[in-house]
Amino acid sequence: LDNGMARTPPMGWLSWQRFRCNTDCVNDPHHCISESLFMQMADIIVNEGYRDLGYQLVSVDDCWLSRERDARGRLQADPHRFPSGIPALSDYMHKRGLSFGIYEDYGNYTCAGYPGILGHLEIDAFTFAEWGVDYVKLDGCYSHPTDMDRGYPLFGYYLNQTLRPMVYSCSWPVYQTYSGLTDCNTDTLESMNIAKRSTAALPNQYITVEYLTPWLCCAGYPEFGYFLNKTGRPMVYSCSWPFYQILTRMQPNYTSIINTCNLWRNFDDIQDSWESVQRIIDYYGDNQQVIVPNAGPGHWNDPDMLIIGNFGLSYEQSKSQMAMWAIFAAPLLMSVDLRTIRPEFKAILQNKGVIGVNQDPLGIQGKRIYKDKGIEIWARPITPVFQGHYSYAIAFLNRRTDGTPSEVSVTLRELGLAYPNGYGITDLFDGVHYGTVLPDKRFKVDVNPSGVVLVRCEVIKGSAGAARF
Ligand code: GLA
Repeated sequence: LDNGMARTPPMGWLSWQRFRCNTDCVNDPHHCISESLFMQMADIIVNEGYRDLGYQLVSVDDCWLSRERDARGRLQADPHRFPSGIPALSDYMHKRGLSFGIYEDYGNYTCAGYPGILGHLEIDAFTFAEWGVDYVKLDGCYSHPTDMDRGYPLFGYYLNQTLRPMVYSCSWPVYQTYSGLTDCNTDTLESMNIAKRSTAALPNQYITVEYLTPWLCCAGYPEFGYFLNKTGRPMVYSCSWPFYQILTRMQPNYTSIINTCNLWRNFDDIQDSWESVQRIIDYYGDNQQVIVPNAGPGHWNDPDMLIIGNFGLSYEQSKSQMAMWAIFAAPLLMSVDLRTIRPEFKAILQNKGVIGVNQDPLGIQGKRIYKDKGIEIWARPITPVFQGHYSYAIAFLNRRTDGTPSEVSVTLRELGLAYPNGYGITDLFDGVHYGTVLPDKRFKVDVNPSGVVLVRCEVIKGSAGAARF
């Protein structure tokens, strides 16, 4: 979205992955979703150097809302957990040089069951603008399930009217589940089964009815984007649009998505495990032809939050997530308890070299260029560019579990780095400088199991062929 925002991938802190929907401030006051949690995180982000490294956003995720809108139909925060109100919280961030983000849902409810924006698009966009919101994450649970719940019986009624017996095979419950409905009607399921069992399924007597969520398909996210724009306040617009489209087997139209959103989720929620991180990496690698070209300044693919410093990733795996998110030009949205994070994980999140790759001004997302026997090589073109030759960030990722590092040996030319003067190579995690490496010289790295080596290869400026090393 060309609204002047998110020219590099957004960086900041989000509550969801670590704190989820913990609303029990009576028994668990230090971990519940409350204004004090966000204020504490903001203080640490400022005082411990995160802000100055680029982590400038503090964003509230689901479960901040009161169950009811106010008398004027406006959203309101839970009064017990956010006693000062959202404008005060947003102010708190702005006074500290931070920006403030909020979560809502293009549906009747948020994914956790709080009021969604359907029927209130304009008023909600304007409320956010008044509150000084800088970033809106718009989820897609509970999007028009009622249409579907009317639709299947209605079509069944017409089928019945034809007087021709037809087996009626519905995708109803699966889409109910997709749109977050938990109360699938078992009577309905049972009656469909009975119908299936009792009717001979001759070819022209069998009908399958799929359901496409019409609003998610084309209109919903642009519609809210229109109202955000109408407020006149620039806000980063984070969409879950393609994710819900893919879930309902639709083909995302990335041209519309780029024009509508600053970032978007296209795959499952991250969970606190290496398995989950690997699934995301595989999704991005396997679908790179479709996904990678869509990234650029103002519009980013969002592989979901950083889980570094939580319970599920080892030290090596945490470096792998950080490195891969840098290759992906991904938003760096930490979701960790910054009050208790261990220093080695903090150091990963604060690694300037890796952040530098992530925030590279060209905004070109990297690709997987090699994959065999658990070893992957990923490459991302970065600055500086000299005479049409890019510099590169190269990630060597070891998915093996051998218990000993794997040696990977390549020439830069094999990786597509062919500038004759060579490249100045630096390891971004251990800081080792390899000096200048010419394209045909062999270059070796040892990569730890489930770990990564991330190097920055800067093109050596000068007249071609001049360098002799
Ligand atoms: C969805 C989103 C998550 C989170 C939750 C909140 O699952 O993908 O990132 O916002 O909803 O309920």
